[in-house]
Amino acid sequence: MSIDLTEDTITKEVQSTFEGCRDGRTRELFVELVRHLHDFARETRLTGDEWFAAMDFLTRVGQVTTPTRQEYVLLSDILGLSVLVDLINEHHGPHATDSTLLGPFFVDGRPSAPNGADISCGVPGTPMFVSGRVLGPDGAPLGGVKVDTWHSDGEGHYDVQQEDRLDGRPAMRALLTTDDDGRFWYRSIAPRYYPVPVDGPCGEIMRAADRSAMRPEHIHFWLHADGYQPLITMLFRRDDDYLEHDAVFAVKRSLVADFVPHGPGTAPDGTEVGEPFQTVDWTFTLSPATPGRRP
Ligand code: BEZ
Ligand code: FE
Repeated sequence: MSIDLTEDTITKEVQSTFEGCRDGRTRELFVELVRHLHDFARETRLTGDEWFAAMDFLTRVGQVTTPTRQEYVLLSDILGLSVLVDLINEHHGPHATDSTLLGPFFVDGRPSAPNGADISCGVPGTPMFVSGRVLGPDGAPLGGVKVDTWHSDGEGHYDVQQEDRLDGRPAMRALLTTDDDGRFWYRSIAPRYYPVPVDGPCGEIMRAADRSAMRPEHIHFWLHADGYQPLITMLFRRDDDYLEHDAVFAVKRSLVADFVPHGPGTAPDGTEVGEPFQTVDWTFTLSPATPGRRP
């Protein structure tokens, strides 16, 4: 190892310490990370105070992170890295439904529900009836597809953000299964636009940049079927003011859907609803699994 390193020689020196990585991809990632980090410091003439501030910031990101509050993922989201990684890797083909971010509010261990179930679990709000059909690339309906869905309540809060109020009960989320005709359907309550969490270090960035923290109204879906690429996606309300100002850059035009308002009357499931309600209907198309790709 050399000593007396200079601004011009230190980068190669640090990169060379990764030559011993047994895994070629690990070596590549660290060598390139060092290159970009060092270039960033040189090009911006990063000061010692700024470096201290960055270390303090990352420390605090770690301190607020818990199993249900992932501030590192949020940092990646608001810097556009999460969507960039999705854009680099998720190519479902021209006829398949586009993917977008998973977000931090998916919960493994969500309850299974039969089609037609009311998944709101008693949370008050405007009734919403969601129906979907899942097709393969040839347009044939796919039965037995597992459909995870989750969304906020009418005040923009997910169940995991109000565990006190809900007593830890899951609400506005479920795992459904498509029938032989590729269909799934459920009742819930209409979600609402909401801000990403701004009470932590990421909020400081948003305020410093005078950026909107809002996400447009949406419903999350994660579709899994043997032999097909898993699809993580969202449907966004067409007339939402925040569609073009999403704090995490995840909106795609192809995923904008009509959340159709109805007066009181007969709902799609045949029940009489004595108050205004909404319906959302969408066709999802999956692409075949790519050999060697992570399931
Ligand atoms: C979400 O849609 O649930 C979400 C995505 C990224 C950051 C915060 C929330
Ligand atoms: Fe969300």
